[in-house]
Amino acid sequence: MAKEEALVINGLKKHFGHVKANDGIDLIVRAGTIHAIVGENGAGKSTLMKSLFGLHQPDSGEIYLWGEKVQFSSPLQALSHGIGMVHQHFMLVEALSVLENIILGAEPGKGILLSYKNSRKTVEEICKKYGLDLDLDAIVENVPVGIQQRLEIVKVLYRGARLIILDEPTAVLTPQEIDRMFEILREFKKDGCTVIFITHKLNEVMALADDVTVIRDGRTVGHWPISEVNEKILARQMVGRDVVLDLVKEDAQPAELVLQIQGLQTEQVNGDQKADGLSFNIRAGEILGIIGVAGNGQDALIEGILGLRKVEKGEILYLGEHINGVDTSHLRQKGVSCISADRLKTGLVREFNVRENAILGYHTGKEFVSNLLFQNKRIDHYANQIITEFQIKTPSLEAPITTLSGGNQQKLIIGRELHANPKLIIAVQPTRGVDIGAIEFIYQVLLECRRQNTAVLLVSNELEEVLSLSDRVAVLYQGRFMGCNTPDHLSKEEIGLMMAGVRPEGEGGSE
Ligand SMILES: Nc1ncnc2c1ncn2[C@@H]1O[C@H](COP(=O)(O)OP(=O)(O)O)[C@@H](O)[C@H]1O
Ligand SMILES: [Mg+2]
Repeated sequence: MAKEEALVINGLKKHFGHVKANDGIDLIVRAGTIHAIVGENGAGKSTLMKSLFGLHQPDSGEIYLWGEKVQFSSPLQALSHGIGMVHQHFMLVEALSVLENIILGAEPGKGILLSYKNSRKTVEEICKKYGLDLDLDAIVENVPVGIQQRLEIVKVLYRGARLIILDEPTAVLTPQEIDRMFEILREFKKDGCTVIFITHKLNEVMALADDVTVIRDGRTVGHWPISEVNEKILARQMVGRDVVLDLVKEDAQPAELVLQIQGLQTEQVNGDQKADGLSFNIRAGEILGIIGVAGNGQDALIEGILGLRKVEKGEILYLGEHINGVDTSHLRQKGVSCISADRLKTGLVREFNVRENAILGYHTGKEFVSNLLFQNKRIDHYANQIITEFQIKTPSLEAPITTLSGGNQQKLIIGRELHANPKLIIAVQPTRGVDIGAIEFIYQVLLECRRQNTAVLLVSNELEEVLSLSDRVAVLYQGRFMGCNTPDHLSKEEIGLMMAGVRPEGEGGSE
């Protein structure tokens, strides 16, 4: 007999102005299973879960929870029906302790006024049961993101949730933490909980889920038991066409030294992690991948190289020339390009249209300006070239940049940055928030740059990405390298340990 259904959603719609975030979603989650929901960025996954959790009011559609028709007007109401949600962006009070965050706002159960002491005991029991280690008295702002997430999970359990939703929970975790989380989710299942696991990582779906539902453009495209699908099938369903997941990567042909960094130490800004003595080289035709959990000095390193942050010690040489403190626009002219993670903060100007963003940073170049006038024809020609070459989907050159999808925005940045034939590309989280089709494209582009003898510095916290693209991988932890080697000499486990600050056996030095 089929298991009873914990959750059924029929034809759910939720529009924001003209954006059809959910445009007819159907979902069936069997009780006591782990159900993965996958879809590209912007497919509507978070919106769907927020409608379920009472954070949004859907325009139409029906939600049945354990057979009962529901429509929650607040998260509190959802919680009282046994739904708990670990959000993509945590919702914690930073100034309060871990324990205070867990019990904050929880309704004292069934008329019994729980004392703080009792609550503490309950929380400790939950932590112990699932092996969720937490320092209950730590102040949340001092706690690393991986632990903050653990807190969110305990919070959900403390409230007695029987249907637990996790929205892209693995983005902030090391590989070991991910494995641990999967074990915990399996424990939940054993205890009769139902888990909805949202992700865009297909290997996670295959490793964890019992069933999977794919969402594309706000609609359900299908659902399957996990035994009936594989990564290729799911990728195809997500994107709507075949996706090449295997990259063709020839042996590296490293040539001249492009970037040499010795003992780089940067200023600390706003209490973030500084670069604390980093040394490495990158040669032409080589990709150096730097992996680490976010917040371990990635920003400091990049900003140090790009002249955006004060270098306190050390040397940066680009093609043999000292570039400490040289500003970004000069570096661009010398052939340094940057593809940044935070597209709408540093890579694009939100208020500009596609055409204007296509020449951003190059808009004072001779190619585009003569006699102090913009050469509009040339600019159009150039922008159209990028659009064609990089298969960017845009209604027109006049379209506001914010109307493009994340993947298309990123392709525009990459097209612009590569058009100048750089000698060094700094790619920071180049595929963050980008759909799988565009990811494939971006990987091909970076490998083509390598073929064309460009030096590539890839900074990412996607392990698969770094391992498949890089010729050498360096692991960054608290502003220093824990180790550096070729990908075939590094196991995922080793990298994961180094990401968590554990030095590999037999290695003493920091470089
Ligand atoms: N509060 C909102 N206002 C306007 N648009 C929104 C809002 N929330 C989400 N969207 C839009 O709805 C679409 C789906 O978003 P989301 O549900 O966050 O996708 P996913 O979680 O699958 O990445 C996107 O185009 C997003 O920009
Ligand atoms: Mg989301």
